[in-house]
Amino acid sequence: MLKQITIGSLVLSHNVVLAPLAGITNLPFRLICRKAGASLAYTEMVSVNGLVREGAKTLALLKSSPADRPLGIQLFGERPGDLAEAARMVEGFGDLLDINMGCPVRKVVGTGAGSALLQDPRKIAAIVRAVRAVTKLPLTIKIRSGWHCGDNVFQEVGRIAEAEGCDAITLHPRSRSLMFSGNAEWRQLAEMKGALSIPVMGSGDLFTPEDCLRMLKETSCDGIMIARGALGNPWIFRQVRELEQTGSYTPVSTGERADTIENHLSLFIEERGEAVAVREIKKHIGWYARGFAGASEIRRKANSAGSIDEIRQLTERIRSISENQGHASDRDAE
Ligand SMILES: Cc1cc2nc3c(=O)[nH]c(=O)nc-3n(C[C@H](O)[C@H](O)[C@H](O)COP(=O)(O)O)c2cc1C
Repeated sequence: MLKQITIGSLVLSHNVVLAPLAGITNLPFRLICRKAGASLAYTEMVSVNGLVREGAKTLALLKSSPADRPLGIQLFGERPGDLAEAARMVEGFGDLLDINMGCPVRKVVGTGAGSALLQDPRKIAAIVRAVRAVTKLPLTIKIRSGWHCGDNVFQEVGRIAEAEGCDAITLHPRSRSLMFSGNAEWRQLAEMKGALSIPVMGSGDLFTPEDCLRMLKETSCDGIMIARGALGNPWIFRQVRELEQTGSYTPVSTGERADTIENHLSLFIEERGEAVAVREIKKHIGWYARGFAGASEIRRKANSAGSIDEIRQLTERIRSISENQGHASDRDAE
């Protein structure tokens, strides 16, 4: 099920990738997930209006490094001409271009972008056509199943995207109105796969390595995008591979957990300086400190931490938790 995948001119070593996550998939987190085994990572969604109007400030979101490849750049916007102009601007920054047609948040759909586009398939056609005309980068779109529950436009949108020259499509099979409630309807991925020739990537409710293999198997989709399941848990990328190859996977040791937080913190310091690093890593410790004895106390302390030293004390605290305690904690009052 894990296999090489080709998206336009881009060949990925395997088909388990890190999803775009606004506020999260910045350079440090992408590097952490790549080290764990993600074959592709995306920027946070980047505003086309920001790019066209503010230029440099928004381009900072595209900061990358040689280890951060292959890189997908995700744009959100609503006007075909602006999207095409933005595509031209970012072409040299990444290896693939994705257009966000799934974001459900009001700030985005209020501008007509994100999942609001699902209400207007003709506009989707115009957007893909305009962007396709200006870039040779592999071009993809990421969608939800529709705007309202039940108005499943995903197959129509998929066909349009394919006809206009998209190289792959990602479906998160929930309607916009569901936001993140209920379950993702994975069978829609199988339906999409049946309707298209270009690769179909699946997103939605991939929280464990077992979920990942089950999505690949049940839907026959070509690849999967891990999103919330990677928060505080980048090891999911190596565990999926291990599960497929051996039928089981090694749990994360407290030492590995502490090392990863240290590494993540160092990357933040390098990128953004100490003050921002403390603020950012606190958020991630809220996710890293789950599922072991004493995790809730570490989360509480992380919340009030104000210095790098305090953060390092917390990682040492995690490291010192014995493995037995660590595992017993999966039953901890989390
Ligand atoms: C905090 C957060 C931020 C997200 N940001 C983006 C984004 O910038 N672009 C995008 O296409 N999807 C974004 N998504 C959607 C995810 O990429 C993914 O499709 C969705 O979370 C479903 O997968 P999951 O259930 O495995 O988390 C975001 C989701 C979350 C929870």
